[in-house]
Amino acid sequence: MQFKASERLKNIKPSGIRRFFALAQEIPNMINLSVGEPDFTPPIHALEEGCKAALAGKTHYAPTNGVAELREALVEKARKEYGLQYDPDSEVLITVGGTEAIFLALMALVNPGDEVLIPNPGFVCYEPSVRVAGGIPVSIPILEENGFKPSIDDVTSLITRKSRVMILNYPNNPTGAVLAYDELKAIAKIAAERDLIVISDEVYEKIVYDGERHRCLAALPEMRERTLIVNSFSKTYAMTGLRIGCVYGPKELIAPLWLCHQYLVACVDTFAQYAALAALKGPQDFVKEMVAEFDKRRLFAFKRLNEIEGFRCVLPKGAFYIFPNIRAFNMSSEEFTQLLLKKVRVATVPGSAFGSYGEGYVRISYAAAYEQLEEAFNRIEKAIKRLKGCL
Ligand SMILES: Cc1ncc(COP(=O)(O)O)c(C=O)c1O
Repeated sequence: MQFKASERLKNIKPSGIRRFFALAQEIPNMINLSVGEPDFTPPIHALEEGCKAALAGKTHYAPTNGVAELREALVEKARKEYGLQYDPDSEVLITVGGTEAIFLALMALVNPGDEVLIPNPGFVCYEPSVRVAGGIPVSIPILEENGFKPSIDDVTSLITRKSRVMILNYPNNPTGAVLAYDELKAIAKIAAERDLIVISDEVYEKIVYDGERHRCLAALPEMRERTLIVNSFSKTYAMTGLRIGCVYGPKELIAPLWLCHQYLVACVDTFAQYAALAALKGPQDFVKEMVAEFDKRRLFAFKRLNEIEGFRCVLPKGAFYIFPNIRAFNMSSEEFTQLLLKKVRVATVPGSAFGSYGEGYVRISYAAAYEQLEEAFNRIEKAIKRLKGCL
């Protein structure tokens, strides 16, 4: 039998990050700066609560939309932190990480032929998820000369009669940019004027530096009714493997996601939801300490990259990535990352893995121990010197 995958997967390629991650695993003494997850153990008290829940029998199916206490705690968080009221029964859904929330939103709200504005470069799951949903991805150029923020003129000119959804992601992966309040307001205004639904991916909300303050998009005028806020426990509490995320929105928008979620996964891991609940309700020192450590590494990575001739860097203000410009080396980002991988055993991700506008950049994750970063930048420096024939 001649086996062929379905038409809807025809243009879907595996994630470039996963590919580099897999390559990195095979090479001994590799320093892996390709990963998108904190190198911290989640708060111990939260893990203990998760284990206790499992031993107490919380190993059965949970309600489709999530464990009630967790939904209530999330609603309380939104009230306190964003000044927004959501109904715990119909306006928040617990999902398998932010990844499922994004996929559900697109599957549930996009019709074949609808245009979805996505950041380019942008997180790797946006474009394939839009395509699987039958939508047409439309790239918003995210350019270094604009500080890796969308230009309002670009966004305005890209909206057509077919535009239905816009995805925003601040603090941003892969660039580390954050939006100021006025910038967010300007985008929100266009979304409202042009009647778009916005998927606001805020999974890095707690990882910001230099006194920046995260603003939830849904809290802006006219935005609550048209925004799905995607969040996750993966980055804030270093719980990537527990797979707990969530999505908030008005009930008209959440209802179709709920339906899709029901048939896709039935519900999310019950005991992992209790671990997430304990993380959310317990002391938040863990998050502060983790962000303080990321901040040290961020400044170090920025300093070291600027010391190596050829790199040009924007200082990231959020998340745990730095996205240097490598055009001076006259190589594609794929060639450049292969060179670092094979010659000096440092794994990074080519900017092209995040979209065509990512070409000319590499994503370096500083979610690795400080000493590892020191060694990695020494190795990178050596590779560049060799490249220039100085060694
Ligand atoms: C921008 C962004 N959104 C969403 C996710 C999904 O994370 P998770 O599914 O672990 O919550 C990631 C993970 O790297 C990300 O970088």
